[in-house]
Amino acid sequence: MKNFEDTRQSDATQTVKNDASFVSFDGSFDDRLTGDYFASAGRSFTGTIAATHRHFWNPEDSRYIDFSIPFDVERSPIMPFSTVPELCSDLRNELSERQQVAFANDSLHWWLSGFLFGEQGALWLSLSLADMLGNPDGVEYVVNQAREEARHVAAFTRYIETRWGPPLPVAPAFRQLLGRIVNSDTIHRKLIGMQILVEGLAMGFMASLYNKAADPVLVRLAQLVMTDETFHHKAGHLWAENDLPRLSAAERADAEDWALECFQALMFNVFNPSQKTALYEKYGWDTEYVRQKIRAYYTEEVRKQELSEQAGVFRILARTLIRSGIVTERTRPVYAQWLDLDSLAEDDTNSVEASIARQGLELIASINC
Ligand SMILES: [Fe+2]
Ligand SMILES: [Fe+2]
Repeated sequence: MKNFEDTRQSDATQTVKNDASFVSFDGSFDDRLTGDYFASAGRSFTGTIAATHRHFWNPEDSRYIDFSIPFDVERSPIMPFSTVPELCSDLRNELSERQQVAFANDSLHWWLSGFLFGEQGALWLSLSLADMLGNPDGVEYVVNQAREEARHVAAFTRYIETRWGPPLPVAPAFRQLLGRIVNSDTIHRKLIGMQILVEGLAMGFMASLYNKAADPVLVRLAQLVMTDETFHHKAGHLWAENDLPRLSAAERADAEDWALECFQALMFNVFNPSQKTALYEKYGWDTEYVRQKIRAYYTEEVRKQELSEQAGVFRILARTLIRSGIVTERTRPVYAQWLDLDSLAEDDTNSVEASIARQGLELIASINC
């Protein structure tokens, strides 16, 4: 059994109990007032809980992030046109140069609104997990994560408000997925849905924002959030390593199917134009019309090209799935329709997102010292 920071916490690793990291609890509050309950605390999260204060940042403090730095969203795209599928298709020819910039930034508005809703989901998921867990160290970990997710909700709200105003409406598929994950009644469904799938996808997109955004405020926001998310994402890996092998055969099958279901729902949310009607309405575009235009551009070849980029969002998500061990021979063919799993299995674990988070941690340490 490995500790959260197994490479840097060798002392803690040696004292780890042979327990699951996230233990289910279905007793009453009264049952939490016993010696047995308190004795059930493990050491899985020793490293991450101790690191909490070292990587604290405050979205209201300009030393960490300065929201007063201006960016003219009417004149310049925050993200390059090449990251906007609609502008890679013939649809671009229907827009003036100014409209192209507006669409690129409106598209980012849609994406970041999704980030905000995802953060809200992660916050409520963490809170609900605290109620379900039976090991005190696990409870301490998830309430700490809740605190960090609340910080992300505040930071994304502030950024969206500063550049555009209120967030765009939540996409229907994403709303449904977040609701199903948050309201799941098993720990494995909550962990797979949020910590592994949603957080994995978010890490990929935030790495893309960090590497490509022209707005320094967004670059800093992505980096700061990634410093926290990398711990959350690792907690998902910890679960996969310590707890997944303990599931019954029926639970294991449910975990694999659920992972696939969440993956397909996320892909649908990302790629299906029906989820972006709030974005298209302003330009008078019918969803079916957009679908046809994008389909002509977004070929299998283009998808594989995206995947080949080291910081490609789906590459990161695919690697996460493989490393978590929840892709099995039974479900592998479905993933393979989207992703080249064979080429990802040997990816360097010292990845792009880890490097961004590490630099973020150094930045925060220099402010917090
Ligand atoms: Fe978050
Ligand atoms: Fe998170």
